[in-house]
Amino acid sequence: MRPLTPPAVAAYLDGLSRLPHPVLAKIRAEGLAAGVPIVAPLTGALLHGLTRSIGAIRVLEIGTAIGYSTVWMATALPTAGLLISLERDQTRAATARRYLAEAGLDDRVNVMIGEADRYLHKLAGPFDLVFQDGDKQQYGPMLAKLAPLVRPGGLLVTDNILWDGEVVPGYTDVPHKNAADTAAIAAYNAQLAADPRFVTSWLPVGDGVALAVRTSHA
Ligand SMILES: C[S@@+](CC[C@H](N)C(=O)[O-])C[C@H]1O[C@@H](n2cnc3c(N)ncnc32)[C@H](O)[C@@H]1O
Repeated sequence: MRPLTPPAVAAYLDGLSRLPHPVLAKIRAEGLAAGVPIVAPLTGALLHGLTRSIGAIRVLEIGTAIGYSTVWMATALPTAGLLISLERDQTRAATARRYLAEAGLDDRVNVMIGEADRYLHKLAGPFDLVFQDGDKQQYGPMLAKLAPLVRPGGLLVTDNILWDGEVVPGYTDVPHKNAADTAAIAAYNAQLAADPRFVTSWLPVGDGVALAVRTSHA
């Protein structure tokens, strides 16, 4: 595997990130030890900065896992804010709830257990920021449901859009990712890039982040 960012550079940049809450170090340690996929610290810091700088009050997350990205965003919300996070794995969701309570953020975060699809048509928008980090093969199909939930001027942020570089044909000599996931992410990137409702910045942060600004009500 060819890393997207040289490891020494990534470690240097990670070292510069200040954690908005110490519980983040614990969650990351547990995630790494248990093999739970969580965002890179740089991506977490980006999510925090975006949430805070747009003055987000309502945030939706697809894929809580054990609450790492959730805590990065929730610490940027005002006490009256609301973050709804959807997670289909009951054990992970319970761990996330425990960490959110420990961080004193459970007043503004609602971790809902189940398939995101089951909830999306019931959720009332608009959201200031939607973070997509769930099943990679659902990125494309879910865009039709998520786009209308983002307010004009709001953000749809998607993680793993580079997938260790494997979405780039020929980047990796021996691909190690699930080929169906790789194809789904590549198709989603093309779909989002062509979507007239968004202007998207493609950032090589962590595993690649798409920062899509909703431009209209259309
Ligand atoms: C990459 S992890 C999320 C990591 C988390 N956002 C973080 O950075 O801390 C993806 C999570 O999404 C969950 N997931 C995937 N597809 C889902 C779906 N359709 N509905 C609900 N949860 C889903 C998985 O169970 C997994 O825990």
